Amino acid sequence: MFKGAGRNEKSERSKRRRFMNRLSMINRSAGGDYPVVSGAGIAEAELEALWHRHLRDPRGSHDSHGSHGSRDSHDPYDRACIVVDAEVLRLHEDRIRAIQMQIGAVEEVFVVPSGESSKSLSMWERGVDYLLRHQVSRRTPVVAVGGGVTGDLAGFMASAVLRGVPLIHIPTTLLAMADSSIGGKTGVNHASGKNLIGAFHTPDAVIQDLDFLKTLPPREWVNGLSEVLKSGLIADRTLVDDAGEIFTGNGEPGWEAVADPDRFQTWLFRCAEIKCEITSDDEFESGRRAFLNFGHTMGHAMEKMFGYNRLRHGEAVFLGMIGALFLSAKVFGRVAADALDPFARLYEFDIRPEELDTSSLISYMALDKKRAGSTVRFVLLEDWEKPTLQPVDSQLIAEAVDVIRRSL
Ligand SMILES: NC(=O)c1ccc[n+]([C@@H]2O[C@H](COP(=O)([O-])OP(=O)(O)OC[C@H]3O[C@@H](n4cnc5c(N)ncnc54)[C@H](O)[C@@H]3O)[C@@H](O)[C@H]2O)c1
Repeated sequence: MFKGAGRNEKSERSKRRRFMNRLSMINRSAGGDYPVVSGAGIAEAELEALWHRHLRDPRGSHDSHGSHGSRDSHDPYDRACIVVDAEVLRLHEDRIRAIQMQIGAVEEVFVVPSGESSKSLSMWERGVDYLLRHQVSRRTPVVAVGGGVTGDLAGFMASAVLRGVPLIHIPTTLLAMADSSIGGKTGVNHASGKNLIGAFHTPDAVIQDLDFLKTLPPREWVNGLSEVLKSGLIADRTLVDDAGEIFTGNGEPGWEAVADPDRFQTWLFRCAEIKCEITSDDEFESGRRAFLNFGHTMGHAMEKMFGYNRLRHGEAVFLGMIGALFLSAKVFGRVAADALDPFARLYEFDIRPEELDTSSLISYMALDKKRAGSTVRFVLLEDWEKPTLQPVDSQLIAEAVDVIRRSL
């Protein structure tokens, strides 16, 4: 991915000149409205502004927190605790330490070992011990710096300690910027299934600093692409059309392959915007929010089947979406079953077709939260951008698994 250093520096400089946007929006939430901001190298300035707002306006109605807030999160912050992905700390240690000094965080950071296995009750317990050992108060924010694993884990820690301390997300993966840092879902996995233990916990802010993406490996770019494609399929087809150019036009996925950073930022932010729109409309998933699970019913089952370590979340979701597109085409006949085929070559799956056992997968799906009684309900597409919840029988699910098997 990385070419000669001289060329890199030059292209970085020219990108930086052209890449000066700060995009922001407010996500409405019952737990307090919160800002989602995006830009390159913005983390320090955004944190400073956030700290000042909390000093200046302890209880009030400033621009980023509307009338919905009911927690104590408008009080001035008192120190902070940083929860950081191990790989992010290794690659960005100077920056993390600078942020730590800037916000007066406690000296010890809580390091989350990379990978899905860290989304566990035992890691959560260690995290809670860390927060209590540092005597957090209800005014001590937890600052989560990492991908969806760190965000989900840190969020669940913040939701539980003292019945809720403030939470600030600094997502560092494409997937976390596009999706997981927004919407307030936090949690860990259980032996019975994915994300089965957790809580809704509204962050005070989501700060997407795109500079972190410069160190993200190609496999993680592709992993994050899946959630953007999902948002495109359910809500805005142009995201899928543009992904074609952003991801397939210019060599191996990664920061170096982003030809037009502004366009990339707009594309990514549009995805975050869709997540904001849907989650502010249906925060607690009594309706529309379930559509964000397109591809996830089978995806979660596959993640579980392979022990949460052989398939990335986004990879499993991509395979799940292939199955869900097949079912959508079968049931409604409007969306092409092969709509994601142009992206398939980007994915390298570490599983063999014969390992995908249909009956085990169906039994794992039955444990998914999206079930209704004994029937597995899928998010399917009546048409592009028209998701719906649909019960599907086992015979048809088996056919969809065959399609997935053939795509491996
Ligand atoms: N809460 C939600 O609404 C929601 C939504 C979607 C997904 N999720 C969850 O998100 C998780 C997946 O998130 P993810 O894909 O970000 O995985 P992740 O957090 O495991 O990160 C992926 C990998 O990238 C590394 N990494 C992170 N940032 C990096 C950087 N800037 N440079 C180099 N390496 C970096 C990590 O060490 C890890 O190895 C899953 O557990 C999924 O269930 C949650």
